[in-house]
Amino acid sequence: MLSPEKNRMLTQVGAGTPMGELLRRYWHPIAPAMELRERRVKPIRLLGEDLVLFRKPSGGHGLLSRHCPHRLTDLSLGWVDGDLMRCAYHGWGFDSDGRCVEQPFEEAGPAGGFHDKAGVKSYPTATLAGLVWAYLGPGPAPLLPDFETFSWEHGFVELILTELPCNWFQCHENGMDPVHFEWLHSNGNAVRLNPEAPLYAPRHTEIDFLEFEHGFVNGREVETENAPEGPFARSSSTAEGGILCLWPYTLASGNTVEFRVPVDDHRTLNITWQYSVLPDDVRTGVPESEEVPYWYGPLTEPGSDRIITSHTGNQDFAVWIGQGTVTDRSAERLGRSDKGITLLRRRYLEAIEQVARGEDPPGTVRDPAANVRIPLPLPRKFIYTEGVPRVVFEEKLAARKKSGLYGIGGFLAVQAGRPDHIQTMYEKAAGITDGSALGSGGAG
Ligand code: FES
Ligand SMILES: [Fe+2]
Repeated sequence: MLSPEKNRMLTQVGAGTPMGELLRRYWHPIAPAMELRERRVKPIRLLGEDLVLFRKPSGGHGLLSRHCPHRLTDLSLGWVDGDLMRCAYHGWGFDSDGRCVEQPFEEAGPAGGFHDKAGVKSYPTATLAGLVWAYLGPGPAPLLPDFETFSWEHGFVELILTELPCNWFQCHENGMDPVHFEWLHSNGNAVRLNPEAPLYAPRHTEIDFLEFEHGFVNGREVETENAPEGPFARSSSTAEGGILCLWPYTLASGNTVEFRVPVDDHRTLNITWQYSVLPDDVRTGVPESEEVPYWYGPLTEPGSDRIITSHTGNQDFAVWIGQGTVTDRSAERLGRSDKGITLLRRRYLEAIEQVARGEDPPGTVRDPAANVRIPLPLPRKFIYTEGVPRVVFEEKLAARKKSGLYGIGGFLAVQAGRPDHIQTMYEKAAGITDGSALGSGGAG
């Protein structure tokens, strides 16, 4: 149970709020780099601020506050002209530092314009892992953490984006909640497969958390080692590594890195960086950021407001939204499954105080030498770094097809709705040549 006041501290993200100030000490992923290459300009809302992101033809991006200082229209209605963001209304042009460098009609007049009084706020951007990132806090900005996952070279990488109508912190708490794997995912799937006699997963008997520089490792003990195939059905001690909950709102599992980006107090942009491990005879290299494909995953069933629950990611979305737009934590009844949740809340309240004292919060990286492929305590990393033997890959694929799961999302897709063109790219990368599953990837 948490007081309404502390609940507000954990959930409100606007400038000047305690959590808003903490979050402004981190970099935030805001859009796929490939999407910006295609559309050039994109409206962004991040931490309650309206912004416009644009791609400069000479390289890099600009991120400006959304409204033109002239008569305040939306700059995202405009276009990129040279390296300038051009306002659609009267053509004022802004560079990526927010300087107004062109005022066409004003310049033609006797005063020659008033550029120095017409700047907009600008923010630094960076590109990593297929994403454009932004930093909204005070300088000097810390480094954008370069986690090792982003340099693995044996997987097919794609980005999946879905906006959720709920607060970011309840999504992030999910990263410290190992018991939900058993019920929401394993048992929920068992019930869907056989509602009359579901085959339940082995029960969790204990959970544990280990704190490290960038977040927390989830550990679990489950009843039996004879568990069916699947990462969540096995015991794993924190010493061996596990699912990771990273500062400021990220879950890393090995084949995914999932960001719960706060759009504002009531909306979260879920971005999943998905890494589908390929057979070991395939070496993909690290894709260029602008080459990483992306797709927007649907939240609801076509033509209905029912939230999709067929896939792991969608199951998570459904329960987070089910907790209310902003979970009322004063009404909860916490138990021993919530050990990680209380730890997480305590650490965030402490981090808020650290920032108020002028210190860097946890997970801040400032040493360039330490920011090269930062190792993460994930279990069985060799699978991701070396790929799986081709015969094992083929066996798993065949089993997946037989189970009927292949057709509802494509091999290893964490969310429903993978478009056919991404499915085709994946199959091509994996060397799946029979084409037997093509065309069914987007049906989930
Ligand atoms: S409103 Fe932007 S140039 Fe006039
Ligand atoms: Fe989950």
